[in-house]
Parts: sequence; structure tokens; C-alpha cells
Amino acid sequence: MGRLSPEERPVIGAMANEIRQFLSNEIDAKKTEMARIIQDAKLKSEVVDITMPGKKPEIGTLHPLTKVLNEFKDIVIGMGFQIAEGPEVEYDYYNFEALNIPKNHPARDTQDTFYIEDNIVLRSQTSPMQIHVMESQKPPIRIIAPGLVYRSDTVDATHSPVFHQIEGLVVDKGITMADLKGTLETLIKSIYGESTKVRFRPHHFQFTEPSAEVDVACFSCGGKGCSVCKGEGWIEILGCGMVHPKVLANCGIDPEVYSGFAFGFGLERLVMGRYDINDLRLFFENDVRFLKQF
Ligand code: DAH
Repeated sequence: MGRLSPEERPVIGAMANEIRQFLSNEIDAKKTEMARIIQDAKLKSEVVDITMPGKKPEIGTLHPLTKVLNEFKDIVIGMGFQIAEGPEVEYDYYNFEALNIPKNHPARDTQDTFYIEDNIVLRSQTSPMQIHVMESQKPPIRIIAPGLVYRSDTVDATHSPVFHQIEGLVVDKGITMADLKGTLETLIKSIYGESTKVRFRPHHFQFTEPSAEVDVACFSCGGKGCSVCKGEGWIEILGCGMVHPKVLANCGIDPEVYSGFAFGFGLERLVMGRYDINDLRLFFENDVRFLKQF
């Protein structure tokens, strides 16, 4: 502009203004058009077809172990039991010693487990819950204690290094073997059916005296003998007995005044019998094709 003559300046100035105006109009028009294109594309991509059927959320089912455990809890709560829970990482004292299984006793062999330290183990049974409960409650005691237990077993169709047990404990004045038999028979029949045949067999456990194992007539053959019961006609389902006086005394309960009974069984075995499941590994593999059936 500096080099233009005074006559030329207004002419060129006016032209420059016109060009600027033109360019700015063009740019505005392009901006508006681009905004519309973006908006159109967005609307197209977000289109909802309200005539399409909706997606149903998949609802899971309870694990068969949880299902049967819940049923069992309902039954025993109806019989006046309370549910107790305790640690899976346990002192040797609770898992063995207080249950009358001293160090180096051969009864430890069958329950070899995972050691965290010399005196701390992953519990090999739910029986230590008997001690916890008797240390913290005074009789009358009526509890069941379900939970995980650990043993250094190799995995196969009937063994797993981790499985569930349910412990039961009743302590009061005047509890006898008759109470044990009556309670367990009622319990077993409410789980397996009223017509189930039940058999008590003498056995040995360190923490009960006398002790017994309980068998039911084979669910598969009804007692004739088949591959499920290995020809025996009976299937062992639990261990039980009258609480050993030493165990009561270990928990500060006078065995001259009180007595009690205890029982313990494996949840997996119970559920396998109930639903005709022949491989324990199915419980832990979480295959939905298996789990969906319950
Ligand atoms: N704890 C035992 C086991 O794992 C089972 C058992 C037997 C529990 C007798 C009891 C009992 O309470 O009285 O083999």
C-alpha cells in the first residue's frame, strides 16, 4: 500500500476488502458444511433400531456345592444349630495337638498337609473349629462349621488337594451316643431321602471316644453291590463319635459335667452322590456346560 499513489490506494483498498470478505465467507460456508457432514456421520453411526430384540443378560446359577451346602444349612438351622466359621490357615495346635493328635503320632500320616511354618498349617480338616468354638462359647453348644480343607493329595477323580468339609459339634449335659445316632440319622435322611438305609460302624478317631463311621446303602445299586460302591453295597459318608474327654478338658470344659458328640464329612462326596457325578474335578474346572445343569 505504501508504494501506491494516493489515487490508487482507495481502489486497491476496496478490492482487498472485497477479497477478504469473499475468503471469509467461503471459509464460513465450508465450516458449516463440514460440521453438517460430521453431524450426519455421527447420527448414522449412532442409529438405534428400536425394532431389534434386546440382549438378555445371562443369569448364572449357584455352584452345586453352594446349593447343597445352603440346603444343608437350612436343615440344621431348623434343628437349632448355629453356623461357625474359622481360619483356613491354622496353628498346628488347633489342627492336631488340641484334638489329641500329638506330634509324631501316626494319625497325622493320613492328613499330611501344607506347612506354612513348623507350627502353622493349611487346615487338613474342619475339626479345629471344635476347639475354636469350645474356647469361645460355653455349653450348650450346637454348631456346624463348613469350609475348605487342604491335603497334599494328588488330583484324580476322587481326590483333590483342596476340598470342603462340614464339621458338627454338640456339647451339653447328658449328651449320649443315642443323641448322636438320632441326630445323624435324621440329618442323613433329610438329605438322601426318608427311605435311605444308614449303618454305623466302629472306627477310630483320636478326638472322639467311642468313634464310628457312617455308611449309607449305595445310591446306585441300593445295596446289591456295583462299581460305584466297589461291590460293597455301602458307601462311607462321614466320621463321628463322642467328643474325647481330653479334648473337652483342653478347652476348659469339665468332662465330668459335660459330654458331646461330633461329626465331619466331605461336601464334594455328598454332592457327587446326590447328583450322580463321577468325577470330583468337575467341581473345580468351572466349565459352564457342567455348572449350567444345576
Ligand atoms: N476330621 C475327620 C477327617 O477329616 C472327620 C471326623 C471324624 C470329624 C470324626 C469329626 C469326628 O468331628 O467326630 O477325617
